[in-house]
Amino acid sequence: MEKNIKLHVEDLTVSFRTTQGMVRAVRGVTFDLHEGETLAVVGESGAGKSVSSRAIMGILAGNGIIDKGEIIYEDQDLTKISEDHYHDLRGNKIGMIFQDPMSSLNPIMRIGKQITEGMILNGKRLHNSYKKRFHLEKMEYRNAKAELKELHGRIKKIKKATRKGELTTSVMKKSTFKEDYSKLKIAAKLYRKQSDRVNADERERKIIENKEGLIAFKNEFLTSREIFNKEAAEQLAEAQSAVMPLIAPAKARIKKAKPIYVKAKKTAKVETKLEWKEQKAKAAKLLEEAKGSFDKSKADKVKADYTAKVSEAKAELKSFKSTAKELPRDEVKLGIASRKADLKTLVAEMKEKVNAHQNDVAKIKEDLRRYKKVTKKEAYERAIEVMTEVGIPEPVRRFKQYPFQFSGGMRQRIVIAIALTASPDVLICDEPTTALDVTIQAQILELINDLKSQRNLSVIFITHDLGVVANMADRIAVMYAGKVVEIGTAEDVFYDPRHPYTWALLSSMPDLTSKERLSAIPGTPPNMLFPPVGDAFAERNSFAMQIDFEKQPPMFEISDNHYAATWLLHKDAPKIDIPEVIKNRIARMTNIADEVKI
Ligand SMILES: Nc1ncnc2c1ncn2[C@@H]1O[C@H](COP(=O)(O)OP(=O)(O)OP(=O)(O)O)[C@@H](O)[C@H]1O
Ligand SMILES: [Mg+2]
Repeated sequence: MEKNIKLHVEDLTVSFRTTQGMVRAVRGVTFDLHEGETLAVVGESGAGKSVSSRAIMGILAGNGIIDKGEIIYEDQDLTKISEDHYHDLRGNKIGMIFQDPMSSLNPIMRIGKQITEGMILNGKRLHNSYKKRFHLEKMEYRNAKAELKELHGRIKKIKKATRKGELTTSVMKKSTFKEDYSKLKIAAKLYRKQSDRVNADERERKIIENKEGLIAFKNEFLTSREIFNKEAAEQLAEAQSAVMPLIAPAKARIKKAKPIYVKAKKTAKVETKLEWKEQKAKAAKLLEEAKGSFDKSKADKVKADYTAKVSEAKAELKSFKSTAKELPRDEVKLGIASRKADLKTLVAEMKEKVNAHQNDVAKIKEDLRRYKKVTKKEAYERAIEVMTEVGIPEPVRRFKQYPFQFSGGMRQRIVIAIALTASPDVLICDEPTTALDVTIQAQILELINDLKSQRNLSVIFITHDLGVVANMADRIAVMYAGKVVEIGTAEDVFYDPRHPYTWALLSSMPDLTSKERLSAIPGTPPNMLFPPVGDAFAERNSFAMQIDFEKQPPMFEISDNHYAATWLLHKDAPKIDIPEVIKNRIARMTNIADEVKI
């Protein structure tokens, strides 16, 4: 069956600038995402799974660059469209959920607000465009104010330094001086009292000496203070003479900038209101047009066409019945049955087509909701709806809670709810269950599966665990060292794997029956600062041939849907038999599958 292609990624190549050089994270990845399917992307850590999906979402880290390639969504190359437009798509048409729900939630914002935030998005966009309109004027005013503050600051700084005694000349604190002075005084007094036994001349001399010492100490303090004050005054004067001439121009700059800023803000408000009005009118018009063209004319016409056909068929049945007397009984029976069946099909067809038109109207309304500004009340109602949809009990109470009040599984449900508020077509799940325990993991997988079928989502499901996708993937892309090395239907990859890396992944997967882990993949993936010239897996591949170390293998076609990049598929390559462990495993899986079918 010919599939509709939802997303087409062609030769996507992403590098990161680092201090050690360029990290070649994604090296020419090509795949299609079909409408309504789940495409699993599997591979070891560092294979480039997250980087590829982040490139699709347009949220690469700052040091990342898309070197080349195309990401086609609805006939547009996402790598080429303008940033504004890109933001319309990501988070709207394409949603993404991550491994750790806590990292995508704001820990100090109530859950409800986090869900509605995105919906009031258009409001937010308007708010942003409003702010943009007077940004420059605002910055000028702010900078002028900052300049004056900085000038005053320079003087303040010197005054503060003076207060704290932090100049080049240091001064004894008054309190320290007082304390020491009184200690010396007491010592002098004590001497006077206790020195009776000393020779009178000697005593007199010491007393005078003590007195002089006290005076000298006091003077020393006063002089150092004087020097300090002089230095402080000098510095202050210097700063003031440097700063004072600048104060007036700074004040003038503020005076000039302020009214310009205030005026720009006012104009921005008016303009934004106008833009908002235009948007609203446009949305209303679109909705009117949509309604007109769909439910009225089209649905009615379909109905009318079918009504005619149905009555024709009925009439034919009637006339057949009336002429049936001359025919053999069996033939009459058959004739009536087949005519009735035709009639039934016709009616079913008619219902389906009319419904389809009604769904189209609903879809357009939904699209318009994205476009229109949603009021707070609408956003609240919608939030409660999606919370219910993703299985949050007591959504009204939960709406007001904080992320820490939710369990890991519930948090992941919230993250999914947030993605759903935008009604995406494509959902990228990057290891959404890795941080959860097994039972919760199964529930989240089930939720994703349900949402996928109810909303006809196309899902990219990233995981390093083949076991997780066995039951949910329609197709699987195996990634290694920044490349897709094998891609095919889930059956192809599980029952007819062709790339030695896929073999290695399969044999490292815990067995469904024996639960034993057959073998870990030996070695480690290559350092992507220096990607290998040949097949990146060659180093770890016991079946590697000379050519694997020298030349990149192309994608060999195994069937319409199944491709693998390994030289083993070259027509001149030696016939290698798939490893025994995997053969056995496939045999066991086939048995289980057969049992399940029975
Ligand atoms: N910001 C960055 N700067 C430099 N290198 C990066 C950056 N982000 C990712 N990389 C590198 O890109 C390569 C691919 O990383 P990616 O996160 O896509 O791996 P992954 O397949 O998602 O693995 P995991 O299972 O660990 O999530 C890795 O070698 C990684 O170190
Ligand atoms: Mg990752």
